[in-house]
Parts: sequence; C-alpha cells; structure tokens
Amino acid sequence: MTASAATRVGVVGTGYVGLTTAACLARLGHRVRAVDADRAKISRLQRQEITIDEPGLADLVTEGMRSGRLDFSDNPKTVADADFVMLCVPTPAGPDGRADLSSLEAAGREVAGMMPSESVIIIKSTVPPGTTEKLEAELGRPVINNPEFLRESAAVRDFLFPDRVVIGASDPAAAARAARLFAGIDSPVLITRPASAELIKYASNAFLAVKISYANELNELAINFGADISEVTHGVGLDPRIGPAALAPGPGWGGSCLPKDTMALSAAAHDVGVPLNLVDAAVAVNRRQIDQVTGQVRSAVSGHADGVLDGCRIALLGLTFKAATSDLRDSPALAVAHRLHTAGATLSAYDPAIRPGSVQALGVPDFIQTAESAEDAVRGADGLVVLTEWPQFRELDWSALSRIVRRPLVIDARNLLDPAKLQEAGLTLLPLGLRAAEATMSRV
Ligand code: UGA
Repeated sequence: MTASAATRVGVVGTGYVGLTTAACLARLGHRVRAVDADRAKISRLQRQEITIDEPGLADLVTEGMRSGRLDFSDNPKTVADADFVMLCVPTPAGPDGRADLSSLEAAGREVAGMMPSESVIIIKSTVPPGTTEKLEAELGRPVINNPEFLRESAAVRDFLFPDRVVIGASDPAAAARAARLFAGIDSPVLITRPASAELIKYASNAFLAVKISYANELNELAINFGADISEVTHGVGLDPRIGPAALAPGPGWGGSCLPKDTMALSAAAHDVGVPLNLVDAAVAVNRRQIDQVTGQVRSAVSGHADGVLDGCRIALLGLTFKAATSDLRDSPALAVAHRLHTAGATLSAYDPAIRPGSVQALGVPDFIQTAESAEDAVRGADGLVVLTEWPQFRELDWSALSRIVRRPLVIDARNLLDPAKLQEAGLTLLPLGLRAAEATMSRV
C-alpha cells in the first residue's frame, strides 16, 4: 500500500459486507485495499466486474478505483502497512448452530503477524460476545468490534447513512481513532465495551426476527377473528415505541443473517445458562410458518393441508429470500418449494433476479424449472404461489395469466397483490394463511 495522507485501511474479505465496506470507506476519503484469497474474484474486481447486486455499489467501486483510493489484491501481505485492518470474513453457523470462527481467527492471526504494533484490527464479521476480547488477548494488540447493520439491497445506503455506528473497544485511544474513520457520516457513534457491541448486533437481528414472527402469528390470529392484518399492523406500527418496520407477514424470515444469528445467539445464551425463550420461540414460529404456507398451498390445490400433489403443477412467483436481491441463501421460498416437491408437485418458477442459465440460477434446486417470464412459469399451472414480495408482480397482466393457467388459483404468501385486480381478472386470491373454505365463506 503506498503511503498517503489519508488513513490506510485494509479490508479482508470481499463478500457483500467487505466489498460494501471497502467501497464506502474509499468514498469517505480513505485509502482502501481489499484482499481476498479467491483469486478469480479479485481478478473480476480488478476489472471492475461486480457480481453483487447492490444499488450504487458498482458506481462506488468504479469511483474508488478511478480516484486511486480503492484497489484489490489476492495477497494479504499487501495490507501489512495499513492503519486499520477490517476483518469481513464469513462466520457461518457450525453444525451445532454456534458461529464458526475459524476463518476469522485465521485471518486475525495472519494480519496481526505482519502489522506494526500501533495498527488496529477491526472485526466487522458478526461474532459471539467475548470473541473480540479473546482475540485481542491472543494477538496482544488492540482489536475492536464494529458490527455492520447493512440490509441486502440497501447496503450502500445503510453504510453511508446509518442509524448508528457502534465501536466496541477496550482501548479508548484505539476507539477514538476508529471513530474518525466514520467522520463525514451523520449518525450517533456509540463507543461501548467489546461485548456490548457484539451483543448489539445479535440483539438487533434477533429482535427483528421476533418482530416478524410475531407479525406472522398475528396474521393467523387476524384471519381467525375476521380482522385485516394490514390494518392491524398499520395501527400497531404507528406507535413510535413499536414502529412499522419488520411487521409484514410472509413465508418466514430467511437470508444469510437472521437464521444464522438467531441460532448463534441462542447457542451463546445456552452456553452461559441463560434461557432465551423469546428468540427460541421466534425460531420455532419461523419453522412452523414454512409448514403453514405449504399446508395452505396443499389445501388450496388438493382440498387437504396434507393432501398429495402428484400430477399437480405449482408455479412459484419469487425464489429469493426477499425482493431486490438475487440471494437465495436460506430463502423461505426454497424451503416451501422443497416441501411442495416432497408432496409430489411439479414446480416451475419465475423470479426477476434468477434468469434460467445464469450464475444466480445455480442455487436453484434441480426440481424447480426456472422460467424467463411469469407467463412461461404459470402456463398450465394448478396453482400460483407468491413467495417473494417483488413489486413488479403487482403489475403483471393478471387477465392474460388467468387465461393460460389450468386453475385460476393464486396463494399470496406475501399479501402483495391487489385483491380487486385479481378478482377482475377472474382469479381466486388467497392471502397468506387463508384457507380456500374460509375464502368461500368470507364471500358468502
Ligand atoms: C438483516 C438486517 O435487517 C440488517 O439490519 C442486518 O445488518 C443484516 O441482516 C445482517 O446481519 O447483515 P437482511 O438479511 O438483508 O438484513 O434481511 P431483512 O431485510 O432484515 O429481511 C430478512 C428476512 O425477513 C427476509 O426473508 C424478509 O423477507 C423477511 N421479512 C422482513 C419479513 O418477512 N417481513 C418483514 O416485515 C421484514
């Protein structure tokens, strides 16, 4: 790394967190080098080929590289003279649900061995409370925890306009230096103990999971009481102590963070003998939600929640774990698809981010036939299921689709579609959780 007046930051790992962090720090004026052991990935980045679909990210990478503030290397030694090295490596769930810290520890040891003693290591990866201090003691140099709160599809925005920056450090001088990395960002900066920073991250994701699971249970309750869930969550969310976010019912929470982080927090709590009943219940509700959606589809198509679907073709609208991303990791849509497949259904699917034959489609199981268009996916289907809340599904030509399906049945597991529009198109719409018999009764 060439010397310059700007702070020199090394970023280890160029996944969605690492790359966003590197590009945004370069935007803030720092001199950033991002390294990754994956040579092919680094070559692509050096050619400014960005395979992560994040609004604004490709432009920031280009801007950073053109300005000379951002570059990439497959050699970890090239961050040796950085003032800070940020570890952005995966901490996936191990077989017992605990976070697997092996990549993080290896990366920490590797960079610590070559950095000057005053340089600081920053852990951005999500790690269980106690990890930062343990690594600091082992490496004999300042290690800071600076969790990320980036939502996929809004990561650049969340980095540059965060609700808070959290810096967990046992060394106040190192914390003050790290805080200066975020100069120019208008948000509260919380300097905390390392364990607090680690827990803030897990507690935030677990809270979101609890909130969404609660919304999913409320949805079922609303159906039973003849209430409208969107009216209920709107009314509840207007209380500023509750807020409207994370209250949309759906097929369950998925993605690369909430499922892994709830499990890791629960395991960490178990290790210190603290029961984490609420989070465990949210996980159980989430598992049940997949079964509920599957049961709803089976019931609508076959007449029974456990009816077989042999000979039936179900069209899935949406495969990704949420809209505006091509990420299929821990997608509730795929979990529902697995169960429908096991029940005997033939599955076709359309997702705007998953084109047949694309790199993204590699994550789709073989038993799902991906289509280029909604028309191709739904032709001849016995039922349609909306599993991801892509806004463009609202604008589909539902009249045209109703003419090419075998049965005019739509199960909307995201409560996304306009009932009046679908009714006009001659389709029977079942919102999330509503069984066909109940729909018939509610029209009587
Ligand atoms: C989540 C957190 O929201 C971020 O703050 C955090 O930084 C990130 O994890 C992380 O730890 O890196 P993300 O995984 O992008 O971000 O996903 P969310 O937008 O939180 O959605 C998670 C899941 O919950 C999705 O499957 C989504 O469809 C579902 N969801 C979300 C609902 O079913 N209802 C809602 O109201 C909101």
